[in-house]
Amino acid sequence: MKIGNIDLGERPVTLAPMEDVTDASFRILCREAGAAMVTTEFVSSDGLVRDVSKTIAKMHTLEEEAPVAVQIYGSIPEAMVDAAKMADQAAELAGGHGADIVDINFGCPVSKIAGRGAGSGMMREPDKMVAITKAIVEAVGKPVTVKTRLGWDDNSKIIVELAERLQDAGISALTIHGRTRCQMYKGEADWTLIGAVKDNPRMHIPIIGNGDINSAQKAKGAFDRWGVDGIMVGRASFGHPWIFTEIRHLLDTGEELPPMSVADRVALAKRHFQLSLDLKGPITGVYEMRRHLSCYFKGLRDFKETRIKLVTSKDPAEIFATLDYVAARWGEEAPAVEGAYGL
Ligand SMILES: Cc1cc2nc3c(=O)[nH]c(=O)nc-3n(C[C@H](O)[C@H](O)[C@H](O)COP(=O)(O)O)c2cc1C
Repeated sequence: MKIGNIDLGERPVTLAPMEDVTDASFRILCREAGAAMVTTEFVSSDGLVRDVSKTIAKMHTLEEEAPVAVQIYGSIPEAMVDAAKMADQAAELAGGHGADIVDINFGCPVSKIAGRGAGSGMMREPDKMVAITKAIVEAVGKPVTVKTRLGWDDNSKIIVELAERLQDAGISALTIHGRTRCQMYKGEADWTLIGAVKDNPRMHIPIIGNGDINSAQKAKGAFDRWGVDGIMVGRASFGHPWIFTEIRHLLDTGEELPPMSVADRVALAKRHFQLSLDLKGPITGVYEMRRHLSCYFKGLRDFKETRIKLVTSKDPAEIFATLDYVAARWGEEAPAVEGAYGL
């Protein structure tokens, strides 16, 4: 599958953008685990054009992440175009590798965003959505992609027609989360309309399906049943970034990997933690790693005390020592990963 000239290989599995989760350390880890592409957390177009340094810093990516998309959101057409140009120039503005792709978020359901007409709020104004997309494609040198949902609610599942219009506006790939805005994250993702977009003979850009993929079997099933070009995995990667290795292995060999041992999970957690420290420093690096660390070892018996230590310690050396202790005590175990975050 190709996005512009960027070749993601056969049946690629990408990491979904997730605010407060998919920072550079997690993105690198997922790339190393087999994710074909990653996307930054969404970046506010208003923040970019107002030159807010924290917003600009969100566009900082590293060479090891490539290919990486920088995702922007907003509702004001001029600000979106200016922000897209800034994302296009992310390497110059924020340092690092910058963007290989500029992705537009037309899917976020959160009230403070969708309620103001940004994210999935744009699904109520498809003409505006298409016009913004076209203006961005014309303004930006890199491939432009869109991530969106099925529609606003059950009565307005407009994705099949919208996909054609977005394609005509010039985007290079489309990611569809199989829910409406009103579903937020509730209920099950409905892949039927993702399949209908893929089946539309007028469509020729790659279609990436998204929603509820939480196992290698489910990923393979989605490729086989719906014929999508790629799959995007979000929540199931949280605390379980090796899901990309598991999916890749099944897709490439037809065989399922056994659950990863705790010793190997510790090795991954240490790598993740070190990246977090290197990129964010000892204070933020520790703080932001806590939410991940508490999820890496779900399902271990008698783990409560150790878990509390992992998520309360402020001292990196002590956290590394606790991780060594986890490997020594539970290293041989390999509990199945169940009940991914929010799934
Ligand atoms: C905590 C969290 C943050 C998210 N942030 C973003 C975001 O910044 N941009 C975006 O396009 N989608 C965002 N999403 C949506 C995911 O990218 C994805 O579409 C959704 O979780 C469905 O996929 P999944 O079932 O594999 O998790 C977020 C989801 C979660 C749970």
